[in-house]
Amino acid sequence: MKDFPIAVFDSGLGGISVLRELRKHMPQENFLYFGDSANAPYGSRSTEEIRRLTLQCAQQLFAQGCKALVVACNTATSAAITALRERYPEKIIIGIEPALKLAVERHPHGKILVMATEATLREQKFAALMEKYADDCKICKCPCPALVEFVERGELHGARLTACLREELQSSLAPSPDAVVLGCTHFPFLRQAIREVVGDVPELLDGADGTAKETRRRLAEAGLLREGLQGSISIRNSLPSPEILILSERLLHADA
Ligand code: DGL
Repeated sequence: MKDFPIAVFDSGLGGISVLRELRKHMPQENFLYFGDSANAPYGSRSTEEIRRLTLQCAQQLFAQGCKALVVACNTATSAAITALRERYPEKIIIGIEPALKLAVERHPHGKILVMATEATLREQKFAALMEKYADDCKICKCPCPALVEFVERGELHGARLTACLREELQSSLAPSPDAVVLGCTHFPFLRQAIREVVGDVPELLDGADGTAKETRRRLAEAGLLREGLQGSISIRNSLPSPEILILSERLLHADA
């Protein structure tokens, strides 16, 4: 069982930003990454659709045999983590959520911008998180519906991306935020472009490191950490195209 892979799931390629952190924290593990790019973006879909797609992908991953599932997608976590845990009560399932807690701890009483998909920001899970911290900080929700597709196309720089970022962020940038939470796993790949638009002041934070630590903790608790040799990474995608796998590899090794 220790040699079974850790499955990592996202609506598309964004979860590779989490896979990179997982590998950093647990290089000896075997990982099976699955991106549902054929159905991306999830963020503009209804909660029911996101839940159905997520459960379908999870079923396939569990059927292949994996010792844990990391839902490396804020949108799928918000809409489906409860349903997943109900359906697979005996499995180790870890989700990701916008790193608002971290941002509030690091910038008490500050202004915090949360960039995420429309679905993540409208779900009850985020409302509960926001309510918890609203007294300590000024929190601005910033839906960024168009950004996911830039990453899915491998367009991580350039004038079109900058224009899109300016349009989506401009109404929230004065006064400058103290922190910007990258509340979608696609966004860390756009870190450089986001930095150019938000300026030098805000700290850019995401939830990948916390998710990787939590995964390690859960596996250790269950006695399922793999020991010894360097593990492997296998990447699959619901789009039957070699290009998407090439892009996935590029993102896995990107600097951002
Ligand atoms: N990567 C996903 C997230 O973290 C969302 C992408 C999508 O809209 O499909 O929210």
